[in-house]
Amino acid sequence: MYILAIETSCDETSAAIVDQTGSVLAVETISQIPIHKKYGGVVPEVASRNHTLVILPTIQKVIKKVFKTDDLKIGLHKIDALAVTVGPGLIGSLLVGVNTVKTLGYLSGKKIFGVNHLEGHIYANWIKSSVTGYQLSVTGKQKLITNHQSPITNIEFPALVLIVSGGHTSLIKMLDHGRYQTLGQTLDDAAGEAFDKVAKLLDLPYPGGPEIEKRAKLGNPETYNLPIPMEKSQDLNFSFSGLKTAVLYLVKKTKDIQKDDLCKNFQDVLIKSLLQKTSKATRIHKPKSILLSGGVINNKALRQSFKSYFQKHFKDINLYMPDLLFCTDNAAMIGAAAQYQSLKSSGKNWYDIDVDPNAKLANG
Ligand code: KG4
Ligand code: ZN
Repeated sequence: MYILAIETSCDETSAAIVDQTGSVLAVETISQIPIHKKYGGVVPEVASRNHTLVILPTIQKVIKKVFKTDDLKIGLHKIDALAVTVGPGLIGSLLVGVNTVKTLGYLSGKKIFGVNHLEGHIYANWIKSSVTGYQLSVTGKQKLITNHQSPITNIEFPALVLIVSGGHTSLIKMLDHGRYQTLGQTLDDAAGEAFDKVAKLLDLPYPGGPEIEKRAKLGNPETYNLPIPMEKSQDLNFSFSGLKTAVLYLVKKTKDIQKDDLCKNFQDVLIKSLLQKTSKATRIHKPKSILLSGGVINNKALRQSFKSYFQKHFKDINLYMPDLLFCTDNAAMIGAAAQYQSLKSSGKNWYDIDVDPNAKLANG
């Protein structure tokens, strides 16, 4: 079963075709980062306008790649169903993807799977891919990553999921496909948001995560001593706004701030906080698998810290993290989530699909 999936919840326009095994046959992602960089963050109105400019060419590209045709109608005929992110996200951005897919559904009569963006991030762990992945910016082409292989076949439940993105930081118990219980979440800023805000404080470009990671590689971990967020808290919630404020005070009172050293210390304590809470949740809930997901999982120091920690302390639990190409927003993860939905439902008609900017994961 071929699903054509679309993701436009924030500032990435992405289309993918995924088959029933979770294999990604094609994925194209157009990032608007170069456009939003000059504003220091995503400008919602600008984001939706740019989605409208590139969404149809992006869809055409994946159709051409898989079905070898420039004709959208012929391509649509070969697709079995459509999928789209309905929320959470920026309403204007979501509307572009959802209305495009509704139109395709209307024209083709194909059913549509509405996918929660967070569920998409989680299902990035089920993606199998050997495609060449491209990430293109609206203002210029850049080939990022090629030739991926994720040999994941059978993730055992219950799984503990850590979602760490620009908008969310949550620990979730996944009882089965589509069944979630939120165990804890951030009380204020998301971890990705903290990376972005701290980068801004240090006059580093948006998005802050990759920039801080780059600087942290050169930094001395001993120069500064920021507090580990929520170190003493008994629950499974997170909080990162205090850490951001600590950075603000440090920057204000230090004449010659060592940016690389501060990036290193900030990144270290943020990773420690994520690790401490995930480890606590693992001890309490005894999952069979741990799944990491979301844009911040791109961070190689974080990936390495989780790998070493779980290998040392929880040898019997399998730790999964998506390929780098599928950590930040992309349509392949939306297609993978839709493939699992399709095992239980045949999807909706175009007139029954709508955006839900504040969508929550279904608890149960
Ligand atoms: O999942 P995502 O693409 O979008 C949301 O759903 O929010 O995540 C974007 C976030 C941004 O805050 C960005 O700074 C962060 O992920 N990020 C990183 C890295 N790459 C992206 N954070 C830390 N290290 C990275 N290498
Ligand atoms: Zn996301």
